[in-house]
Amino acid sequence: MKKIVIFTGAGISAESGLKTFRGEDGLWEGYNLEDVATPEGWKKDRKRVLDFYNIRRKQCVTANPNSAHIAIKTLEKKFETFVITQNIDDLHERAGSTNVLHLHGEIRKAQSTLNPKYIYTMQSDEINIGDVCELGSQLRPHVVWFGEAVPNLLKAEEITRQADIFVVVGTSLQVYPAANLLQETKLGCDVFLIDPHADEMRIGNHIKRYAMKATQGLQKLSDLLTK
Ligand code: OAD
Repeated sequence: MKKIVIFTGAGISAESGLKTFRGEDGLWEGYNLEDVATPEGWKKDRKRVLDFYNIRRKQCVTANPNSAHIAIKTLEKKFETFVITQNIDDLHERAGSTNVLHLHGEIRKAQSTLNPKYIYTMQSDEINIGDVCELGSQLRPHVVWFGEAVPNLLKAEEITRQADIFVVVGTSLQVYPAANLLQETKLGCDVFLIDPHADEMRIGNHIKRYAMKATQGLQKLSDLLTK
């Protein structure tokens, strides 16, 4: 069975109603990234950071997977399928995908501020000041902030190197080290890019581009791959 790796970003969840980060109406237009997505921001104002992710979490809980997430799940019938996502939502899992690796964490989990190995699946939609882990330290969202290490990076690189087909969906490829994953694909790997701005993105000429939304692009690609 051929191995297909799908590398996703915020764009795949846009049609589920979740905002992307960059560009017009992106999340970083309304929030200062340094305030809410860095260790420095956390040191300065924990409540502001918790509030930001509490809002994100509530939106994720009410959003539903769209047909792009479902098309990826359906690829499992024909391919050994791996999803590597920069997204902190759980829409791939809720669409039924079996192998999902989160590079930037998971919004529905909380993490100890004393020991990052203490991770909890959340029962409620909020983390508030005073919510503590079993070690007694304040809980924070289980997300990777700018300036922090990406614990799943090596695993993601390993999976990428094995891909016969590598599909990039809905990411501006502006955040490193995640954006470097493309460089890990093996010689002869078929690489596809699905993004409304695909034609403007400066990446290799060998990459086949679908300049369209994720739902439409995944439909086209899975028709091509499963024929
Ligand atoms: P961006 O907001 O940077 O990019 C979103 C991409 O999705 C853009 O290239 C859009 O053109 C595309 N897009 C928009 N609507 C789409 C649709 N319906 N279908 C397909 N594509 C669409 O988001 P990411 O690249 O995911 O990290 O951002 C990477 C990281 O930066 C995030 O994981 C987050 C952020 O800051 C952290 O917070 C650590």
